[in-house]
Amino acid sequence: MLDKTQKDWWKKAVFYQIYPKSFQDTTGNGVGDLQGIIEHLDYLETLGIDGIWLSPVFASPQVDNGYDISNYREIDAMFGTKEDMVKLIQEAKKRGISIILDMVLNHTSDKHEWFQQAIQSKDNPYHDYYIFRDGKEGEYPNDMKAVFGGPAWKWIPSLEQYYFFQFSPQQPDLNWENEKVREELYDMIRMWKSLGVEGFRLDVIDQIAKEPDNHITNNGPKLHTYLQEMREKAFVDNQIVTIGEAWGANIENASLFCGEERNELSMVFQFEHMCLDQENEKWDVKDLDLVQLKDIYNKWQQALYQKGWNSLFLDNHDLPRIVSRWGNDTLYRKESAKMLAIFLHGMQGTPFIYQGEEIGMTNCKMDIHEYQDLEILNMFADRISKGYKKEDIMDSIYARGRDNARTPMQFSNTKNGGFSTGKPWIKVNENYKEINVEEALQDKDSIFYTYQKLISIRKHYPILQEGSFTLIEPKDPDTFMYKRESEEDTMVILCNWREKEKKIILDKEWISGDILVSNYKDILLQEEMVLRPYEAMMIYVRRK
Ligand code: GLC
Repeated sequence: MLDKTQKDWWKKAVFYQIYPKSFQDTTGNGVGDLQGIIEHLDYLETLGIDGIWLSPVFASPQVDNGYDISNYREIDAMFGTKEDMVKLIQEAKKRGISIILDMVLNHTSDKHEWFQQAIQSKDNPYHDYYIFRDGKEGEYPNDMKAVFGGPAWKWIPSLEQYYFFQFSPQQPDLNWENEKVREELYDMIRMWKSLGVEGFRLDVIDQIAKEPDNHITNNGPKLHTYLQEMREKAFVDNQIVTIGEAWGANIENASLFCGEERNELSMVFQFEHMCLDQENEKWDVKDLDLVQLKDIYNKWQQALYQKGWNSLFLDNHDLPRIVSRWGNDTLYRKESAKMLAIFLHGMQGTPFIYQGEEIGMTNCKMDIHEYQDLEILNMFADRISKGYKKEDIMDSIYARGRDNARTPMQFSNTKNGGFSTGKPWIKVNENYKEINVEEALQDKDSIFYTYQKLISIRKHYPILQEGSFTLIEPKDPDTFMYKRESEEDTMVILCNWREKEKKIILDKEWISGDILVSNYKDILLQEEMVLRPYEAMMIYVRRK
C-alpha cells in the first residue's frame, strides 16, 4: 500500500477509471451503481491499483451521462445514496484505494437549481452565475459552435437573451468571473473532501476561463489565476491529487498547469497523442504514423521532465478501445493489448487504466438506434443532412464513437457478462463469452496479469518515476523503443508495433539485464534479436 501522507504519493500510483453506469448493476435496473463498485473492490485490490477515478455520480438528468450535473452535493438515486458513497470511500480506503471524484466545474445541467433561477429574470441573484447576452431571436451573439454540434448559444424568449454553452444546450456554461460561483464550487469540493475523498479529476478544466465575446474557449487569460485560487481554497490542506483534463494543453503551456512551483494541479491530462489518427475532424480517421507518435511522446516526456507531471493513458470513456484502435483485436488481441500496456507503463507520469482495458475489452459495433451517446447521434443526423453515405458515417462511429468504451464491463460469461440481471441501458459486447474477468483471472497468462505485474513494477522501481527518457531508433516505423536512465540503472522498453517480425539490435549492456515483464515466453536476449508480432518487454539493468 502506498503511504498517502507522503508528498506527491500519486507519482508512484496507478489509477483506474470507472464509468459507473456501465460497471456493475446490483438492482436489476440495467444501470451500474455504487454498491456494484463496492462488490468489486477486492478485484481491484488484486489488480493493485491505488485509486479510482469515478466518472460523475452526482444528481443529473443524464443527457451527457452525468457530465450534466443538477446537484453537486447529492448522489443520483440511480447510483445509490450518499451513504453508499461514504461506504465506498471507506471500503476502498481499507484496501489502499483512494476515491477520486470527477468534477464538472465548467458547466452544470440546465436542470440545476442555479440555472432554473437564472432564467427567471435578469435581476435574479443567480442570473450572473451563467453567461447571458442580449440579442434578437435568430441573431446569435457570434458564430461560436458547440462541441456536440450547432451554435453555442440558446435563446430564452422570456429574458430576450441568449445563454452560452460549450457542449450541449442542456449544459450551460458557468460564469467563473463571478466570485460567488467560484466560492460555491470550492465549498462543495471541501464538503466531499470532508467525507474522505482523496482526489479530483477536473473535467475540461482548461475551459473554465472562457471569454465567448473574444471567441476564447480554452486557456482563457484568467485560467491560471482561477486554478491557483482553487488550489488554495479548495485543495491545499492535505495530500489531494488533482488531475486536470485539458484538450488545450500543449508542451508550451503544460508546466503552467502542473509545474512544481505553480501550485495549481498535480498533473495534466492532455490528448495530443490521441489526435494523431484523425484528420482535422474527430470523425475522419487516418492511419497512425508511429514515428509521429514517438515524436509526440518524446516531446511530452522531455517537456515535463523535472518540471511537471504527465498522465499516461490510452483509453477512457470518450475514446475507442485501444486494442481495437492501435492493436489488433482479433488474431493478436492478447499480444497487442499487453504490448500497449508495457509501452505505456514504462514512461514518466501516472498511468490510468480504463475499466475493461485490463482484460482487453474491444470496440463494439451497434445499429444506429442502439447508440446512446448524444455526440454520436448529433453527428449522425448532421452528416446525413449533409449528404454523407450512411455506411461511411457508421464506419466513423465504429472507429471513433464514445459508446465503444461505454459498453458494460464484462465480468463473466453469464447473461449480460454478469453486468446486470435486467436490461442493460446500452448493448453488451457479445464477445463477453470469451473476454471477461473470470476467464482472465483463471488464465495465468492473461492480459490482466500483465497489468498486475506492471503496477507492481511501478511501485518497486523508482527509475520509472525519476529516470530520464530517451527514444531508441526514433525514426524506425515499426518499433516503439525507449530507455529510462538514472545514475545506477537503466530500464529498457522494447515494443514491436507490427504484426510482422522485426530485427533489432540490442546494446551489449542490456543483454545481461533482467526481463521484468514481456508478452512472449522463451526470450533470449542477444545483440541481434528478432521481435515476434507485437512482442514487447521491459528489461532492467543495474549498472552500479
Ligand atoms: C469531458 C468529458 C466528456 C464530457 C465533456 C463535457 O470531455 O470527459 O465525457 O462529455 O467533458 O462535460
